[in-house]
Amino acid sequence: MVAVDPKQRMGRKMKGIILAGGSGSRLHPLTIGMSKQMIPVFDKPMIYYPLSVLMLSGISEVLIISTPVDLPNFERLLGDGAALGCSFRYAEQPEPKGVAQAFTIGESFIGSDKVALILGDNLFYGSGFGSWIRRNTDPDGAVIFAAWVSAPERYGVVELDCQGKAISIEEKPVKPKSNYAIPGLYFYDNQVVEIARNIKPSARGEREISAINNEYLDRGSLTVKVFNRGIAWLDTGTFASLSEASTFVRVIEERQGLKIGCIEEVAYYMNYIDQPTLLELAERYSNSGYGDYLRNVAHWPRITDN
Ligand code: G1P
Repeated sequence: MVAVDPKQRMGRKMKGIILAGGSGSRLHPLTIGMSKQMIPVFDKPMIYYPLSVLMLSGISEVLIISTPVDLPNFERLLGDGAALGCSFRYAEQPEPKGVAQAFTIGESFIGSDKVALILGDNLFYGSGFGSWIRRNTDPDGAVIFAAWVSAPERYGVVELDCQGKAISIEEKPVKPKSNYAIPGLYFYDNQVVEIARNIKPSARGEREISAINNEYLDRGSLTVKVFNRGIAWLDTGTFASLSEASTFVRVIEERQGLKIGCIEEVAYYMNYIDQPTLLELAERYSNSGYGDYLRNVAHWPRITDN
């Protein structure tokens, strides 16, 4: 496999946060005994998918935020990240008070760096997605995305002018001004920490990510990148969409023989780990097909565009 040149990997210092909190009440009883973001999506825990997106973005320092009850399980699953050539840290969100809280909880982790946030239940898949986000995500200000969907009222919605510039952003509007939903993947400069500190709770009592994006919009430093229709953004918010996401991953993986969201493969592709380390990781999973897959990845003469 031809890996990414480390110079192309990271033109800047950027940290990443995965928000994997919430009660998952729309998926009860599935989420009574386990975190939503730990539920399998075909052959991996859900959090592997957003984690692999951050890693593909060139980010190797990641903070995972979850509830006090669920956090130890994430730590058991992912450890300190060293095995993947990364650094993973953990922080509690005692109560789900909104997505924007990620930046106040993560304030000391972020320090003076830029930061990406991904929601732990968002899945992305598309040809060249990794290189596309690496090209588009070094913001002076904010970079967010827009994806055309059939039910925008379930999401943050951005209204765009004909040049693709944002006109307005609304969180779950009853009458959406466009079909462009804002997926749960955001790239910010360091101003986000100060902005998040000053966000007022919305009518539903949450510190909304849309309020942060609106502040960047007001400051004239918000960029919106529109997903082309080759990029799949999958939702896992209902029983049906969760099952559809699993089926989607299974269909692609079985047809191609290539995995989606395989964090060990991404670590190797991004040059975070070398071939002997990948082979060591493969040993850990020698009882499941996952280990065989990693062994194959280590030996493939494959040219990829992730
Ligand atoms: C959150 C955000 C929303 C965004 C969505 C993406 O909503 O508030 O703006 O479009 O994630 O998944 P939630 O899923 O927390 O309702």
